[in-house]
Amino acid sequence: MQTVHHIAELRAQVAAWKQAGERVALVPTMGNLHRGHLCLVERARKLAPRTVASIFVNPTQFGPNEDFAGYPRTLADDGRQLEAAGLDLLFAPEATAIYPRPLAEMTQVSVPGLSQLLCGANRPVHFGGVATVVAKLFNLVQPDVAVFGEKDWQQLIIIRRMTADLDLPVEIIGVPTVREADSLAMSSRNGYLSAEELAIAPTLYATLQAAVEQWRAGDREYIALENAAKARLAAAGFRPDYVEIRRADDLQRPEGNDAEVRIFAAAWLGRARLIDNLAIT
Ligand code: PAF
Repeated sequence: MQTVHHIAELRAQVAAWKQAGERVALVPTMGNLHRGHLCLVERARKLAPRTVASIFVNPTQFGPNEDFAGYPRTLADDGRQLEAAGLDLLFAPEATAIYPRPLAEMTQVSVPGLSQLLCGANRPVHFGGVATVVAKLFNLVQPDVAVFGEKDWQQLIIIRRMTADLDLPVEIIGVPTVREADSLAMSSRNGYLSAEELAIAPTLYATLQAAVEQWRAGDREYIALENAAKARLAAAGFRPDYVEIRRADDLQRPEGNDAEVRIFAAAWLGRARLIDNLAIT
C-alpha cells in the first residue's frame, strides 16, 4: 500500500491506473478506523481492482462547539489496518491542501432541504462541510465508485443527491451498518464512552428495534412511537436529540404505503453523540 499526502502524487497514481484501464473505488473516511470502515474497504475491493481510502478530519463539517480538536487522529494504526485489508492507496492530505484559502473565500457545495433535516437541524454547518469535502475528494481521486456506511444514512442520501445534481460520474454504494456483539453501531465516537456508558449504549438500537416491531404490528401513530422512544432513551440516561420515522429516500414523513421507511435517532450519552437508523419496511 502506498500512502500519499500530496495531491500531485495522488493524481499521478490514479492517472496511471486509469491509463491501464483499471477502475478505481474510493472509501472516504476521517480515520480512527474500526471494523465498519474495514467492511467498506472490503466492499470497495469487490467493486474495482484499485482501491483508494482517504483519511482527512474535515474541519468544515464540525460546528464551532463540536469535537474537531479532540477527534481521534490515529494515522499510523489506521495505515496498518488498511494495508492488512489490501488497500492500494491511502490519501492523507494536510488541511491546507484541501482548503488552501479561508473557507469563507472558497467555493462550497450545499444540498438544500435534505441538509437541514434530522442531524442538520442541530448541526447547521455539518452537511455543507460533508458535501464540499466529498465533492473535492471525488474531483481529486476521480473514482468510478465510492462507498459509504449506512449508519450515516442521511449523509449517504445527501451524497447521492449531490452526485446526481452535479452530474458527477461516480456510482454511490451504501454498506449496511456494522455492529458490536451487543448491537451498538460501530463508530469512532464510541471511544468517548466510559465503561458505564458503554453498558447503556446498546439501548439506542433496542429502542429503535422496539419501535420497528410496533410499526410492523400495525401501529402507525408515528409521533407517539417517536415520543415513546425518546422517553425510553431519556430514562436510560441519554439526552435524545431526535427520533424520527421518515421515508428512506427523501427523509420526508411517510404517507400511505411508502416503499421504504426508516427510523432515525441521535442521542447524547456523556460526551458522545450517537446516531443510528433501522429499516422499518
Ligand atoms: O463519514 C465520514 O467519515 C465523513 O463524513 C466523510 C464522508 C469522510 C466526509 O468527511
